[in-house]
Amino acid sequence: MARMYRSRLTEADVTPREIWMNRRQLLAGAGALAAAGAAAGPAAAKLTTVESKYSTMEKSNSLHDITHYNNFYEFGLAKTDPARYADKLTTSPWSVEIGGLVDKPGTYSLDDLMKGITLESRIYRFRCVEAWSMVIPWDGFPLSKVLDRAGVQPSAKYIAFQTVYRPSEMPGQKTSILEWPYVEGLRMDEAMNPLTILATGIYGEPMPKQDGAPIRLVVPWKYGFKSIKSIVKITAVADQPPTTWNRAAPNEYGFYSNVNPHVDHPRWSQATERRIGGGLFSPRIKTLMFNGYGDEVAAMYKGMDLRKDF
Ligand code: MTE
Repeated sequence: MARMYRSRLTEADVTPREIWMNRRQLLAGAGALAAAGAAAGPAAAKLTTVESKYSTMEKSNSLHDITHYNNFYEFGLAKTDPARYADKLTTSPWSVEIGGLVDKPGTYSLDDLMKGITLESRIYRFRCVEAWSMVIPWDGFPLSKVLDRAGVQPSAKYIAFQTVYRPSEMPGQKTSILEWPYVEGLRMDEAMNPLTILATGIYGEPMPKQDGAPIRLVVPWKYGFKSIKSIVKITAVADQPPTTWNRAAPNEYGFYSNVNPHVDHPRWSQATERRIGGGLFSPRIKTLMFNGYGDEVAAMYKGMDLRKDF
């Protein structure tokens, strides 16, 4: 576990400086250059980010893998459908409504929402409930920053999220494969956990549409379906909110959906996973409890029966 965290052993400790620098530049663009004291050239469309102690040292998947093997049912059922059809989605202008049990409800343009917020490069493992996984270098910021600004009231116990509903641009929403719009939720301590981020980019570039542009949730210790894409609404609520996959199949997808190798999906094992991009003959890897993020999150579930509250 410990060796997976850059906070304890950095890539610079094990990699020659030039290679490390190149990798960091690729990942974080102008931010890494500036941080390293090098002359930063024109930033182009690159996002400026800072490194995070929460990043894994595992090798990131290629941008091609990350953008051509997706689940985004608003654009179809096949893994390649989002890459084919998501360009139809208008992501600018975009606004996010923050409401419910908060002191300062409001509808914010993406720029206003992110005013004064520093983007971080967060390289996380990402484990889908279908037993495949990737390593993704997200650019984002803790959800807690937005919630703290809005002033969550003590009576709020959960945060509910909603994806844009726009059937004219999202053909899947004209079908009944799922109930639309896609909704998700987190308990308040999960929402406030420093690992929980709103991501607006990947590899230092603005979020690709098929990955949930312009802003999506990333909760790395939970199955991927909790990481809701293309968010337009964040609401602080008193009661546990409904979630799309739990509505669709409550016996298969619980509210918590923490990555758990000991609790199998009714139709397949969750003990191992297939890392995308590893090639046809690469061995399956062992799935880790909480996707390997137990140090940061296990305490939140103390005393809970994770077989019952799956
Ligand atoms: N969000 C919305 N709005 N619609 C979706 O279909 N799919 C979920 C999640 N967020 C989904 C969504 C699932 S099942 C997974 S595994 C991840 O997004 C996939 O994210 P990725 O395609 O960026 O890897």
